[in-house]
Amino acid sequence: MSTTPNRGHDPQHAPEEAARWFNQWHVYRSIVDADWMAHRGIFSAIRDWVLMRHPGPFTLADLGCGDAGFIKPTFDGTGLWAYMGVDASEAALREARDQLAGARFTAELLESDLLTFLRGDVGPAAQTFDIILASYAVHHLPAPEKQEFFRLAHERLRSRGSLLFADVFRRDGESREDYLGRYVGMMRQAWTGMPPEHVASTVEHVVQRDFPESGETISGMAREAGFREPPRELFRDATEFHRLVAFTKEA
Ligand SMILES: C[S@@+](CC[C@H](N)C(=O)[O-])C[C@H]1O[C@@H](n2cnc3c(N)ncnc32)[C@H](O)[C@@H]1O
Repeated sequence: MSTTPNRGHDPQHAPEEAARWFNQWHVYRSIVDADWMAHRGIFSAIRDWVLMRHPGPFTLADLGCGDAGFIKPTFDGTGLWAYMGVDASEAALREARDQLAGARFTAELLESDLLTFLRGDVGPAAQTFDIILASYAVHHLPAPEKQEFFRLAHERLRSRGSLLFADVFRRDGESREDYLGRYVGMMRQAWTGMPPEHVASTVEHVVQRDFPESGETISGMAREAGFREPPRELFRDATEFHRLVAFTKEA
């Protein structure tokens, strides 16, 4: 596996490139199954938040939904009645179709760039949601598109709606270079048992496609987009890389 690290700070918005690695879905699935990206803690915190803040019926848009593997177990027994999953990877959506079979809520899946969807260029343009979930998708976007993501998500949320933002985070003030060094180091040390060729392809994807921000930067973008209430960090794992933050739209 060749590795051509692109350590630049100026990524292009290229959803099909960001989604390409996920076409070999089983590699990502093995990472999720081993809980190396803390999905269990994140989705358990999502369920607690939803039960507390959205006790009635609600709609959910899941942007960069991947295989939606956590959706049924997380939202079973909640008021979710309509789910919309959006992803740029056809392979991921194929898996999602199976995962969502037999769900008690209506489930629609759309193959699209998440920003294109939020702008209303595909799918139901005027539709607003009670909850927008973006887990491990936004760190692929360049900074101006991340800002655009928050602006559009704010627009597409109903009043008192929640933006649930799960992602990888840099430390405040940390360079991308230093972040990559720490993240790849953590992977090599902690992701034991992963076949070497899967480690190599995952490292290549992270180095080329991951552009996470610090908590400070993400909160600033959300504030700029109109989220006036202070963000609520709902989960952070022991590595501090993997976090879940809730942003609430005012009434
Ligand atoms: C790391 S996976 C996360 C999947 C799932 N949300 C989770 O938490 O496990 C990232 C997903 O985002 C999708 N993706 C990346 N960039 C995207 C974009 N611009 N628009 C839509 N989907 C995107 C990828 O295809 C992939 O399925």
